[in-house]
Amino acid sequence: MVHFVQFILSFLPPLALWYRPDSITWLSYTSPEPCHLTSSPNSTKSIAIVGAGSAGLGVLKAILDLPLDIRSGWEVVLYERRRDVGGLWLPDPPGYTPNPPELPETPWYPLLRTNTPHPTMTYPHFPFAGGTTLFPPADAVQTYHADFAVHNDLTPYVRLNHTVVSAQWYGDDAQGNWYVEVQADGGGSDEVTLRRAFDHLIVASGHNSYPYIPAWNGTEDWLAGISPGVACREILHSIYYRRPERYANRGVLIVGSGASAFDIAVQVSPLAQVVYQSVKEGKKHASGAAVVQKPAISHFTRDSVVFVDGTAVTDVDAVILGTGYELRIPFLSAPHSSVLLADADTRANSTTAGILTSNLRYLFPLHRQIFSLASNLPPTALGFIGLPSLASSCPLYLAQGIFVAHTLANSSLLPTREDMVRELVAREERLRARGYDPYRVGHKLLASENETEDYQDELIAYLKHRGALPENGKPYVDSWRRMEWGYAVFLYRGWRRIQALDDEQRWLNGVETEEQWVDMMDRIVNWERKWEEGHSAESIPIDFYVETY
Ligand SMILES: Cc1cc2nc3c(=O)[nH]c(=O)nc-3n(C[C@H](O)[C@H](O)[C@H](O)COP(=O)(O)OP(=O)(O)OC[C@H]3O[C@@H](n4cnc5c(N)ncnc54)[C@H](O)[C@@H]3O)c2cc1C
Ligand SMILES: *[C@@H]1O[C@H](CO)[C@@H](O)[C@H](O)[C@H]1NC(C)=O
Ligand SMILES: *[C@@H]1O[C@H](CO)[C@@H](O)[C@H](O)[C@H]1NC(C)=O
Ligand SMILES: *[C@@H]1O[C@H](CO)[C@@H](O)[C@H](O)[C@H]1NC(C)=O
Ligand SMILES: *[C@@H]1O[C@H](CO)[C@@H](O)[C@H](O)[C@H]1NC(C)=O
Ligand SMILES: *[C@@H]1O[C@H](CO)[C@@H](O)[C@H](O)[C@H]1NC(C)=O
Ligand SMILES: *[C@@H]1O[C@H](CO)[C@@H](O)[C@H](O)[C@H]1NC(C)=O
Repeated sequence: MVHFVQFILSFLPPLALWYRPDSITWLSYTSPEPCHLTSSPNSTKSIAIVGAGSAGLGVLKAILDLPLDIRSGWEVVLYERRRDVGGLWLPDPPGYTPNPPELPETPWYPLLRTNTPHPTMTYPHFPFAGGTTLFPPADAVQTYHADFAVHNDLTPYVRLNHTVVSAQWYGDDAQGNWYVEVQADGGGSDEVTLRRAFDHLIVASGHNSYPYIPAWNGTEDWLAGISPGVACREILHSIYYRRPERYANRGVLIVGSGASAFDIAVQVSPLAQVVYQSVKEGKKHASGAAVVQKPAISHFTRDSVVFVDGTAVTDVDAVILGTGYELRIPFLSAPHSSVLLADADTRANSTTAGILTSNLRYLFPLHRQIFSLASNLPPTALGFIGLPSLASSCPLYLAQGIFVAHTLANSSLLPTREDMVRELVAREERLRARGYDPYRVGHKLLASENETEDYQDELIAYLKHRGALPENGKPYVDSWRRMEWGYAVFLYRGWRRIQALDDEQRWLNGVETEEQWVDMMDRIVNWERKWEEGHSAESIPIDFYVETY
């Protein structure tokens, strides 16, 4: 089967003219004419942020929160390729239908809701609007981000419809500049290419854009085969999934055990003829959907899908791959730039990598999953926000943003490169000691029991310890956010029961502040606990599963 990403990359223009690092004149493959870089001559520091999702807005706010005397003269620009803020929560453009293998702007689908309760997803002390249902639909999450941007005066710094096409570093491990090429889409046919120099580049471009599509033998044969009554067979990644009606009366095989696979199984199973779910050994099947459980796929034949246990199914005509995403950042890697090596088969590791490297699951070497420790740039030249997963997004991204803001202001706050590499290797060792391969689980916060929260606390505690932030005697993560699994399960089941009783409004009434949201969650959990003491809650399935999407 054609690998969609490779297929798309194969259409990109070849690396032609590169840049002349010794001069301010920059030659690019899209423009045969030398052109002068624009930059703000008066700024003392210039920072480009890529992406206006939860991560990009979080770091932008953190930078603007620096005391004015510290950030005076700084120029901050956030480039966002889409028409509005909110990242993957912003719906498709009006009228858009996915057209594979062309990648959609977002994995959004009309029935997308959060699988985490919204009070746990918030930037601290900025709750969702009163009245928002506990597991809200995507548009409420997008509105939350838009409100956050307006409330914090972020909008003047955000350039919508601006796609970062390439970012190349000119300099060494002590100093240098980014040369950034941006495609500005003014709507219609007028596209303008901007070229700008920056001191720092902060990448917050998300990690749900490039589908991981496994290769199996026989897919071409199977796709060419015929299913009675169906125009053609298909194998599509979940990034293309939009509406369950597409699968009405069809035979569907869902591959994977992440949140997307679960959610799609729940939506598709009431309409489809039959739904199989194939999961790897040791992974769970969707509990809330009528699915026939299958193990991993072995291969395809002209007539069937064969599984590793030797069983085969012949009544499938649509395969949906909930197989997750690859960690790619095209504007940093070939043919656009030489900063990042993206190679699934790389043998490099955090101590041997010559340059920043992604094995498509894990980006290394990084300091605290944020700053590049590659030896060809200074550690604060290139930062990433949003890589850690298995965590609630906005609060963690803001903690990373605060860390970035202060270390951009004073890079001496960071340990020596040697110490940072040692710290990184020690974390990788802790992952191994807990049975995980760091080069596979990558950025999942699994290096200790509570790494999700401890990671955030440590970023902020480090700044306090170094005197960059005042000591206020409180950890960054509020204690109520250290939510135990059992609590989350009662909360989820409780809310499902409240919805079934059509009683949402009564619970939501008058709930507005963060304290009130926390109190409401506590009340639901107590109410549900008490009810479950006398009843069996088996019938309420747990469909949320925050592992991968
Ligand atoms: C289907 C799905 C459901 C999810 N549900 C939940 C949930 O319920 N709870 C939860 O906590 N997490 C959930 N997540 C995880 C999700 O990844 C995070 O919650 C969070 O939204 C990610 O934010 P981000 O800013 O890192 O990335 P994104 O939201 O992807 O934002 C990245 C932004 O960067 C822009 N961008 C990318 N490349 C460029 C470029 N070259 N130039 C300019 N702009 C660019 C994109 O257009 C986008 O707006 C879900 C993920 C998926 C895929
Ligand atoms: C830069 O400084 C010059 C001289 O001080 C001033 O005239 C000009 O307006 C400034 N430009 C910007 C963009 O602030
Ligand atoms: C961005 O592009 C969209 C679609 O082309 C257009 O409707 C919108 O006005 C543009 N927004 C800005 C700020 O340029
Ligand atoms: C695919 O089939 C070929 C030839 O039958 C075999 O050599 C190869 O190992 C198979 N690959 C996989 C991934 O099963
Ligand atoms: C990287 O690989 C080298 C050589 O294989 C090995 O000596 C080193 O310990 C590895 N480092 C890490 C961090 O895994
Ligand atoms: C920068 O950080 C270093 C190390 O913590 C500290 O000694 C120095 O005073 C800081 N500089 C400023 C301007 O705050
Ligand atoms: C993790 O957090 C829980 C609950 O806050 C606590 O009881 C436990 O001791 C913590 N584990 C570690 C290893 O600190």
